[in-house]
Amino acid sequence: MSDAKSLLQELEGLVPECEARLDQASSLSELEELRIEYLGRKGRLAKIMSGLPSLSNEDKPVAGKKANEVKTALTELIEGRQSQLERAAITESLSRFDPTMPGRTPHKGSLHPVSLVMDEICDVFVGLGFEVVTGPEVENDWYNFEALNMPPDHPARDMQDTLYISESFLLRTHTSPLQVRSMQEKNPPIAVIAPGKVYRRDSDITHTPMFHQIEGVLIDENVSMADLRGTLTAFVHQLFGPKTEVRFRPSFFPFTEPSAEVDISCVMCGGKGHIDGQPCRVCKQTGWVEILGCGMMDPNVMKSVDYDTEKYSGFAFGLGIERVAMLKYGIGDLRMFFENDIRFLEQFS
Ligand code: DAH
Repeated sequence: MSDAKSLLQELEGLVPECEARLDQASSLSELEELRIEYLGRKGRLAKIMSGLPSLSNEDKPVAGKKANEVKTALTELIEGRQSQLERAAITESLSRFDPTMPGRTPHKGSLHPVSLVMDEICDVFVGLGFEVVTGPEVENDWYNFEALNMPPDHPARDMQDTLYISESFLLRTHTSPLQVRSMQEKNPPIAVIAPGKVYRRDSDITHTPMFHQIEGVLIDENVSMADLRGTLTAFVHQLFGPKTEVRFRPSFFPFTEPSAEVDISCVMCGGKGHIDGQPCRVCKQTGWVEILGCGMMDPNVMKSVDYDTEKYSGFAFGLGIERVAMLKYGIGDLRMFFENDIRFLEQFS
């Protein structure tokens, strides 16, 4: 039979012994080794306790209780040292961290020039009291053509190379359907602008199958051509500067009567037609560039949605955003907008 007294002594000796060695454990891994040495399955405590079965029945519970106390004491000692070491590790790593170092700058994207110009144009018209509206890119024949005074056999339909989806559905060829949709949704006075994508079966240096337009509509009592001129002149002056000259040239659109195209003095040569004696290529020496189509709303368009044409009149206009962006930023090739060359796009940030 083992000696209970010596077993208890051995147990008690573990605590001061372990405590004395704690300071030597200077890292978390060394501490873990120490923990295993004392508390592991084959560790010092376990080894002493392997003598338990040979104790007398009176001594066994006494030794068992002591073993538990020793285990708790050892665990507390080791955990205490552990949090000490952990705190030291944090302090040490913070001492290596320099909060004054400059951060890494994340790569910042920028808005596409088409979005920039679209936002800018919308801002100008919102400032004039217009409201921004949007409509579907998949339209039906009625909104895209018929309600705009272009019946099925109308020759003006040939002007648009339409991408058809089915017999009666198509990708809108212009934003003008929004004239009709706005009249259906609102009562006069109406002042809306509608930016968005439009589609045509066209692809060469100056045409892409998808591009962007903005449509504008104003309807009220007593709206006249003077209101149209005033509004569009104010718009041009805000977008291209107050010195820009504006010219209204008679034209034809099925949905407006009378119709006009608006030219502005060339942004490249300032309207002179030449730069340093060289012919200006942007205006082809005319001194003028066309930027939009417009006119007084044709009564037939208003009648298509049962508007009282005796009481109300209005004007409409439409412009291509890529074209305005090319003029504004001096971009020579339409395809630049759609190639997504980062070196091109970065210039607009
Ligand atoms: N829808 C025409 C086009 O795509 C542009 C246009 C011209 C719109 C005259 C209008 C307008 O509202 O009055 O070429």
